[in-house]
Amino acid sequence: MKIETLRWNNEKLEMIDQRVLPATFNYLAYDSAESVAEGIRSMVVRGAPAIGVAAAYGVALEARRLQNLSVAEFKVALELGFKVLAESRPTAVNLFWALARMRRVWESLLGNSPVEIAEKLLAEAHEILVEDVRINRAMGDFGAALLPDGARVLTHCNAGALATAGWGTALGVIRSAVAAGKKISVIADETRPFLQGARLTAWEMVQENIPVTLITDNMAGHLMAQGEIDAVIVGTDRVAANGDVANKIGTYMVAVLAQRHGIPFYVACPLSTIDLTLATGKDIPIEERSAEEVKGFRDTQWAAAGVKIRNPSFDVTPAELVTALITEKGVVAQPNAAKLQQLFG
Ligand code: MRU
Repeated sequence: MKIETLRWNNEKLEMIDQRVLPATFNYLAYDSAESVAEGIRSMVVRGAPAIGVAAAYGVALEARRLQNLSVAEFKVALELGFKVLAESRPTAVNLFWALARMRRVWESLLGNSPVEIAEKLLAEAHEILVEDVRINRAMGDFGAALLPDGARVLTHCNAGALATAGWGTALGVIRSAVAAGKKISVIADETRPFLQGARLTAWEMVQENIPVTLITDNMAGHLMAQGEIDAVIVGTDRVAANGDVANKIGTYMVAVLAQRHGIPFYVACPLSTIDLTLATGKDIPIEERSAEEVKGFRDTQWAAAGVKIRNPSFDVTPAELVTALITEKGVVAQPNAAKLQQLFG
């Protein structure tokens, strides 16, 4: 089954509602920047590259919605669309990368009519989507070579087709290794509190017939100590210029454990996720989400009433714990500032 996380249908953006997976497979339709921003904020769509693609369509939809305004009114109103999208979630840099790319298209067309601008912005959003799948395939090919036949691979959160326009980053590497004929099995961290591992990664791997075993996050160290994990692969929301990696909360813990047990820790990372404007991971904004996510799940509340809650949604793994970054331009072993700079050279 080909998973189309985002698709253009009936003049609207449609996105799989990831909040209700795996019990329900359902598309929701979007027709404005505000609605797409709400889809990002509420986690209908999540995962750094998918958020970037959604934001690009958010701009395109807004431009179409406004295309009958005067040039001056269009400019003011479209700026508001960019603003609402930029404020939807803070950590995944792909959001800001996509908005900057859409802005460059807009700026290159100043002097054209709003109708023409809207048409070009939609074409650019389509291009970003198609490009994302191409990039994931390229990362997959490079990363697959790192996995030995028979590897048991731990992953955290969901960096699969659902987190991208298709194929996935970390799960893309696994898909590519399987497509190359390797026998790979996956150990999926449940990924508290939003359960992306249990709900999304496990679902994707089951659809794909790739053997998958679900564990709760606190079991990874035990499995490593038992010699049951050969490699770790995760995705990322933002990589700083020195190679520090922000990813789903709990990733840092896994990286420390991997180092302790001499297990390679790989990060699948498109160039659009590298932020050279931030010197180190300390500068990466970490989203703090609602206390409700930690107190319980959906209608069930298990935490003591009145207890104080923290819910940082991401953490930073220092570059020194990263065995290699897998990018569409190749594998960067032991990433550092000079090597990352070179990728863009
Ligand atoms: O809060 P989420 O579900 O958007 O977090 C997603 C992750 O942490 C992913 O690992 C990351 O975005 C990489 S996705 C290819």
